[in-house]
Order: sequence, then structure tokens, then C-alpha cells
Amino acid sequence: MILAGRRVILGVAGGIAAYKAAEIAGTLVKQGVEVRVIMTRAAQEFITPLTLQTITSHEVASDMFTPRSGGVAHIEAARWGEAFLIAPATANIIGKMAAGIGDDLLSTIVLAFDRPVLVCPAMNVTMYKNPVVQRNIQALSALGYYFIEPGSGRLACGEEGPGRLAPTAEIVARLESILGGSGDLGGLKMLITAGPTREPLDSVRYISNRSSGKMGYAVAKAAAERGADVVLVSGPVALSPPDGVNVVFVETAQEMHLAVNRHFEWCDVVVKAAAVADYRVQAQPGKIKKGATPLTLTLEPNPDILRDLGERKGRRVIIGFAAETEQLETRAVEKARNKGADLIVANDVTRPGAGFDVDTNIAVFAYPDGRTVPLPLMTKSALAHRILDQVLDLREDGADNG
Ligand code: PMT
Repeated sequence: MILAGRRVILGVAGGIAAYKAAEIAGTLVKQGVEVRVIMTRAAQEFITPLTLQTITSHEVASDMFTPRSGGVAHIEAARWGEAFLIAPATANIIGKMAAGIGDDLLSTIVLAFDRPVLVCPAMNVTMYKNPVVQRNIQALSALGYYFIEPGSGRLACGEEGPGRLAPTAEIVARLESILGGSGDLGGLKMLITAGPTREPLDSVRYISNRSSGKMGYAVAKAAAERGADVVLVSGPVALSPPDGVNVVFVETAQEMHLAVNRHFEWCDVVVKAAAVADYRVQAQPGKIKKGATPLTLTLEPNPDILRDLGERKGRRVIIGFAAETEQLETRAVEKARNKGADLIVANDVTRPGAGFDVDTNIAVFAYPDGRTVPLPLMTKSALAHRILDQVLDLREDGADNG
């Protein structure tokens, strides 16, 4: 019972699938979850608060302004919940969330909630396919909201297509993976690299790059939250180590190579988000003296860590990154092939909102068989989860090109 003892807010919006909230609440309660239900006014046309109150043993809330003792209803609920499940989510609530509108209790609590929100859309197929609804879903996904795609079939309105609320079992499984514990990466040993390397010129100077470590740290945090056993090999960054992650700090590419090699044998998955310097300087002891003539530095190549791991990959899943400024997809596919990676996460570091130091990224997944999948702008945290979903798919496919 992974979810036993967890606290979940169940938001029910006004669509025909609202009656299924009873089954969802009942399944969660049976697993030992404490469930509090928030309904919109429209949802009460489809299922009574009394039904959900009886199932959850908690009063159901729907009104912002019901006089009550204690604190402010929406703030208290937002502080109480560990996850917010919105099932069913109508086009209306999704639109309000995307626009930041809080005009009833449910939408206001969503605004005040800063933990994972899982949205389960259910609506008429034409509404679901409406570009405005799709744009809202994309915008919320990019901000880190989780979505479960609706199922396809004959809908209550008589039309056929996607729009059915996802099955309860799928919703509960997704909630389990989001709330972690022994989540969907439970038992997996992951080696992740992040940040820049520093290559000394002399005792006081170095050459480096603009990597902040945010991308690799986001992958490490998400992997630990989903239950993986994570070792993060990090270059020098100004970030706090994520909870539950073992961090090994290094400076140079050669140190990173050694640290990665030490942990490679036991790991199942490698994600190399670090920006490793391709060259190091023949460092001089002491401080290089200033002079009137030009100074020539001799650079020698660093080991290509990813390629080295790719040559020894066995059944491990190996994911690299590619920081490019042109020909993103072609170069990323080449890198996947040349470095023995199952997937390259390519980012054009010249695009606003992508690459170094920002909190978002715009990536393309590139595979050694030549396939490429472009992704929209999203937070590095949301991208981290997309990468981890790929880890699961690649393991299912039995990644082995080594
Ligand atoms: O850290 P942030 O500020 O959040 O920025 C994120 C990022 C831009 C650093 C990240 O998204 C990214 O693109 N990381 C890879 C940067 C890079 O080194 O790209 P590359 O195309 O030069 O290298 C390709 C792959 O080979 C990478 O997985 C890299 O880790 C690896 N490599 C490269 C050189 C080398 N000597 N050894 C390696 O293992």
C-alpha cells in the first residue's frame, strides 16, 4: 500500500464523469489514503456532496464563503494536501488554471497549492481537441502540472474519440508514482552528472562554461522522488543538493571521469547532463605572469566520458545531452550513434528559455535510429520527468546496443 497514510485533495469539476469521483475516492480510501473532496457548484448537479462525504468520512467543501471556525478554508486545504487530484477536470477548470483565475473554492485552492497537481481531463471530444484547450494543457504541463490523457471510446454525448476520464487504476498508479515512496523508478540505480567542469590554467585561474547544474539537478531530484537510488556527480555549482540524493563533487573533466567510472559498474541508468570541457589546459604551477606579448595556451583533449560509457554499456540505459547552436537534430542523432547513447536530449542553447542557467528548456529527443521528437518549452523539472518516462520505456524495450 504505497499510498497508505498520504493526504490527497480530490477536486471534482462539473462534467458527467463527476459520478466516477465516488469510485476514485473509494479506491483511495481503501488504500489508506486520507481524502478531502472539493467540488464545484456544477459538479453537485452530477453527484451529491453527501455521497463523497460518506465515502471519505470528511465534510465536502465547495463554498468559499461558508462561515467556519479555524483558518481560511482554501489556505488550510492547500497546506494540508500532499497532492491535488482533479478528476474529472473540465475544459473550464483547465482554462481557469492556465489563466490563473480563482473564482470559486476549487480554482482558488489550486492557485494556493504548491505541491504536485494531477489533472485528469474528461469532456466532449471536440472540446478536448479544441486548440485553446490543448494550448492550456500544454501551458500547464510546461509549468510542471501532471496530466493523464483521457481514454478513447463512445462518450456520454454520443460522439466517439478521446474524452473519457482515465480508468481509476491508471489514476491511482500515476498518483503513486508522483507521490514517490517506492515509485515507478523504485529499485533502479541511477548515475546522473550535472554542472560544468573547471579546467585550471594555473593555481588561480580556470576555463569553464555557463552550466548552472539546474538541468542535471532537476533530473536527480525527480529520479529520487520517483524512488530511484541516485548518485549525482556534480561540477561546481551554487545549488543545494536535492533531498535523498548522494552527491559527489568534482572539478575537472578527469575527476568527473574517475567519479563516474567508480559508480558505473553498479548502475542501471546513466543520465549525463553535465557540460564537460572538451579540452584541458596544460596547467602551470603558480600564477602565470602578466607580460606584454600574447600568451599562448596549449589545449589537450579531455576524455569523452559519455563515449567511454557507451562502449561498455551492456544492458544499461544511457542518456546523454547535446548542447548545440545549429543543426540540432542532425547533430544530436550523430551524437546518439557515435557515443552509444539510447537517447540524446538536445537543446539549442541560443534559444531564449533553453539551455544554460534558465529554469526552463526546449529539448528534442534524438534516438540512434534517426527518430527525433521535439518537445515544447517546459520547466527543467517537467523535462526531467519526461526524460525519466523515457528511461522506463527504454528499459521495457531492453536497451542494449553495446
Ligand atoms: O546546467 P544548466 O545551466 O541547467 O544547463 C543545462 C545544459 C545546457 C548544460 C544541458 O541541458 C546540456 O545540454 N548538457 C550537455 C552539455 C554538453 O556538454 O553538450 P555536448 O554536446 O558538448 O556533449 C554531449 C554529451 O557528451 C553530453 O552528455 C556531455 O555530458 C557528454 N560529454 C561531452 C564531452 C566530454 N568530454 N565528455 C562527455 O561525457
